[in-house]
Amino acid sequence: MCGIVGYVGRRPALPILVEGLRRLEYRGYDSAGVALVDQEGLWVAKSAGRLYVLEQQLDFTAPQTRGLGHTRWATHGAPTEANAHPQLDASGRFAVVHNGIIENDRALRKYLEQKGVIFKSETDTEVLAQLIGQLYDGNLERAVRQALHEVSGTYGIAVMCTFEPDVIIAARKGSPLIVGVGQGEHLLASDAAAILAHTTQVVYLDDGEIARITPEQLRLTTLDAIPVTKAVEEIEWTLEQIELGGYEHFMLKEINEQPEALENCLRGRIDLAEGTVHLGGLVDCARELTRARRIILTACGTAWHASLVGEYLFEEMARIPTETEYASEFRYRNPVIDDGTVLIAVSQSGETMDTLAALREGKQRGALTLGVVNVVGSTIPRETDAGVYLHVGPEIGVASTKAFSGQVAVLSLLACYLGRRKHMSAASAMQFITALSQIPRQMREILQRADEARAIAERFGEHNNWLYLGRGFNYPVALEGALKIKEIAYIHAEGLPAAEMKHGPIALITEGMPVVCIATAGVQYEKILNNISQVRGRGGSVIAVATEGDKEIRRLSDHVLYVPDTLEPLQPLLTVIPLQLIAYHAAVLRGCNVDKPRNLAKSVTVE
Ligand code: AGP
Ligand code: GLU
Repeated sequence: MCGIVGYVGRRPALPILVEGLRRLEYRGYDSAGVALVDQEGLWVAKSAGRLYVLEQQLDFTAPQTRGLGHTRWATHGAPTEANAHPQLDASGRFAVVHNGIIENDRALRKYLEQKGVIFKSETDTEVLAQLIGQLYDGNLERAVRQALHEVSGTYGIAVMCTFEPDVIIAARKGSPLIVGVGQGEHLLASDAAAILAHTTQVVYLDDGEIARITPEQLRLTTLDAIPVTKAVEEIEWTLEQIELGGYEHFMLKEINEQPEALENCLRGRIDLAEGTVHLGGLVDCARELTRARRIILTACGTAWHASLVGEYLFEEMARIPTETEYASEFRYRNPVIDDGTVLIAVSQSGETMDTLAALREGKQRGALTLGVVNVVGSTIPRETDAGVYLHVGPEIGVASTKAFSGQVAVLSLLACYLGRRKHMSAASAMQFITALSQIPRQMREILQRADEARAIAERFGEHNNWLYLGRGFNYPVALEGALKIKEIAYIHAEGLPAAEMKHGPIALITEGMPVVCIATAGVQYEKILNNISQVRGRGGSVIAVATEGDKEIRRLSDHVLYVPDTLEPLQPLLTVIPLQLIAYHAAVLRGCNVDKPRNLAKSVTVE
């Protein structure tokens, strides 16, 4: 998804802008541009395609110490140079970069054309640039404020002009923006990764806020010009965490980071002596949570799969009726929210538009809202009543891996937290928490055998159709395994509850077709053995994920990937890892762009 970087200070702006955009590349984009500004005028360079194409036309000795940069993910108009940002007004003295969608752009475009404005691009963003240029009467902040009162839609914008070259005006409504605070300089970005090399001191903008930024000053107001005071916060991530660290791809790094990520996620939250769970973010709503009569989990993609594990956990451990809703469906479905309903939004980025909209829908209907999110300070946790951060560190690869594990781990903690306030005994909680504390070590054991998963990818990577089967807590893992190989290896795969095979999908089985069956020890183990026999009876190649020590499964399967034994509700944290590795290696073998898969973005902040 698109990215914004801005700089006003004493240092040459261009290297800072380009380096910032480079750190945002992982979010997915299709064109890029920069603008430098001083009293003499605006200097603009834009290009379609990747950032390195833009860099070919840049003079890094440029002396200007103020400027804006943007990576675009087109919504209005093809990814061309003309449609890339910054977009200028007719005079060429105002530059705008924009993340989001101006929904009334056609009406505004028509109004401006009737005033004689000639548009140079197909974008909705140019409408904003032209409007600001028309409204400017000596005060850039006022012109931007007036323009935004005319606009409906979503935006994170930054505006500069040659009349006030020391000033960036930034505004936010539905697309994140943060201000980096430096010595005699300020930075602006849509994501902390872009400015982390320069400062860890940041101020987060909220929806409806405008920032006036100069090298020495940061002033916040609302869209109605009411002053806003905010504390400067510390970013907890390091630059090293957002870099590759010797791995070939971020996805492989993040798969291997899962043990450490889980240790960070659990740290300070489980008390092995008492058999209790401590979730500081829920203190203010603990009583209301305890009276929860129904839980709705809402999310998208991988986060939805983690939520489905959460559904099984909440019903198993806390005995609270729970449903998992696709956010995009929930928000338009006229859902029933009654007293005692808790809505939990699960999201790595905390910016997914559908999930945010579902959260707002649940909130306005009276649900207590929680966030289970990774990115601190992102929009979802800023709008929920309470929540629990994943603390798994920045996830750069588009394909979610350690965030899935973090989401399942937090939902496991939450299930135990709620269970202990309902019917769960201290002994059961102790057993669960003890097993959970062993997961990072067990993950390391699986990762030491990563080559076995790679061998499966090499053996079956040419197949264009796979099936993934699972039961109970491992059914969501089957869905997740299928999504992984779809989104990064572009292999068609379907995840199914294993028992569903006989209701149609078994017709798909062809000779040698790879069918991944999660067949770990559990109440449905014998049942999944039957499914395995049904698959093999029709010529399918069975790749089983099984519990260490199980010899029976080897006799019934073509290949077996073992995982350590753990409580059944915690198995997803282990069974998902071989599936992540299979997808990763299949993608590499197919020459796919693992960290930036085609058509995908890390955070989908548009509908
Ligand atoms: C998962 O690998 C995908 N990148 C995608 O499905 C992702 O999980 C989904 O877009 C939700 O993103 P979020 O967790 O940031 O809300
Ligand atoms: N809607 C704007 C455009 O199409 C911005 C898209 C984005 O968020 O990058 O140019």
